[in-house]
Amino acid sequence: MSSQLFDLSDQVAMVSGSAQGMGKHMLLALAQQGANAVVVDLNIEAAQNTAAEIEALGRQALAVQCDVSDVDQIRDLYRQIDDKFGRIDFVGNVAGHSIRQKPEDIPLEEVEAAWRSLVYGRFCSCQEAGRRMIQQGKGSIVNIGSLASVTALGRGHIAYSMAMGAVVAMTRELSTEWSGRGVRVNCILPAQTLNPNLKSRMASDPRLKDRYLSGLPVGRFGDPTDIQGLSVFLASDAASFITGALIPMDGGNLAMNAGGSVGSEVFNE
Ligand SMILES: NC(=O)c1ccc[n+]([C@@H]2O[C@H](COP(=O)([O-])OP(=O)(O)OC[C@H]3O[C@@H](n4cnc5c(N)ncnc54)[C@H](O)[C@@H]3O)[C@@H](O)[C@H]2O)c1
Repeated sequence: MSSQLFDLSDQVAMVSGSAQGMGKHMLLALAQQGANAVVVDLNIEAAQNTAAEIEALGRQALAVQCDVSDVDQIRDLYRQIDDKFGRIDFVGNVAGHSIRQKPEDIPLEEVEAAWRSLVYGRFCSCQEAGRRMIQQGKGSIVNIGSLASVTALGRGHIAYSMAMGAVVAMTRELSTEWSGRGVRVNCILPAQTLNPNLKSRMASDPRLKDRYLSGLPVGRFGDPTDIQGLSVFLASDAASFITGALIPMDGGNLAMNAGGSVGSEVFNE
């Protein structure tokens, strides 16, 4: 029963930011369940490496260089998916802009850049995918949000948090509009999942590691592979009644009301 419940054979999945990190492991997990894959990233060499790993699993893979803050590139991406596969079953909007600057100092251009990438770019991808999925009568979209979507982090996250809050509103609206036509839209809220940026910040300030861990009841940092099971579940028929959901992937951080686990004094130093 379980293998059929999570079977994604012959489906087509596109994940942005899938050259590395959570996006890569989301797409690899879907491919392991049978999906063909569209690997999307700014970093085309690394995207091609992900595509090669997916082809080694016996699936088809297409690597596309695309900046998710540019709607023309996103529309062209979907045209390439049409040409290569003629369908789209799962979309993971994972890639996004990250900026940290104090609210009193941040130039409005940086606020706009965060919005363009996380809100406008995610919405354009949802719109392109949604149009196709509605035609097919079926599809699953997962937007990556953040704990910053639902709770304040402090430490210079104003532009990111405002944009990630909008990602939650987008997810709820699209789920409400589209789930009756077969398109489910959900949002994963990750926290403190190791990536090169987080590792280098902790390396430059050794106190950060303990501060972060103090907000993680599970007792460890997230690993990019932690997103795999949730991604397969949300893509599959096992989740056919799950839509409009905000799902923390945070080692219990939100439940203990720890926000981002780091006070503003760390950012100020
Ligand atoms: N790591 C965490 O703890 C955490 C927490 C909350 C939210 N997030 C969000 O999850 C997403 C992925 O995080 P990660 O830790 O896997 O990141 P990562 O840095 O390991 O990987 C991000 C990938 O996205 C690509 N990318 C960046 N900007 C892009 C753009 N404009 N267009 C196309 N590709 C682009 C990068 O080249 C890279 O391959 C991000 O949106 C991040 O804000 C991460």
